[in-house]
Amino acid sequence: MKDEVRIIQLPKFLDRRGNLSVIEEMQAVPFSIARTYWIYDVPGGERRGGHAYRNNRELIVALSGSFDVTVDDGTAKRRFRLSRSYYGLYIPAGVWREMDDFSTNSVALILASDNYDRADYIENYKQFKAYVREQARTRP
Ligand code: TYD
Repeated sequence: MKDEVRIIQLPKFLDRRGNLSVIEEMQAVPFSIARTYWIYDVPGGERRGGHAYRNNRELIVALSGSFDVTVDDGTAKRRFRLSRSYYGLYIPAGVWREMDDFSTNSVALILASDNYDRADYIENYKQFKAYVREQARTRP
């Protein structure tokens, strides 16, 4: 399957004590997990993200509350509202992503395939468009 942005449904175990969901590497999440971080206490109206990665792949889960993730592969933009902790949004490398419209007390959990490396970031949208063109030219 082409490596593309998609919603992944995570296992969910329900019983009278409440719910439990789980993520195991190479199963629900299609990569080995090198790192996990979370974004929380985001003030109303703030945006996060606003970059792409050359190699890093991610799965984003709304552990609590809700927020929007806008993804852009250089050709088309899609907006996802994440609001359930049993869905993850998979983002392959080379996709511009931004997060906004965080509800009060929301928590975004992000699983990443690679360790933190600022050199892997494409921080500027113009550079991102040039990167996408270059990728299309060298890897048609
Ligand atoms: P940043 O990448 O700007 O956050 P966002 O994904 O919302 O754009 O990261 C914010 C700060 O946290 C920045 O100083 C770098 C630091 N940081 C780490 O040290 N390790 C990490 O794994 C991440 C994601 C960020």
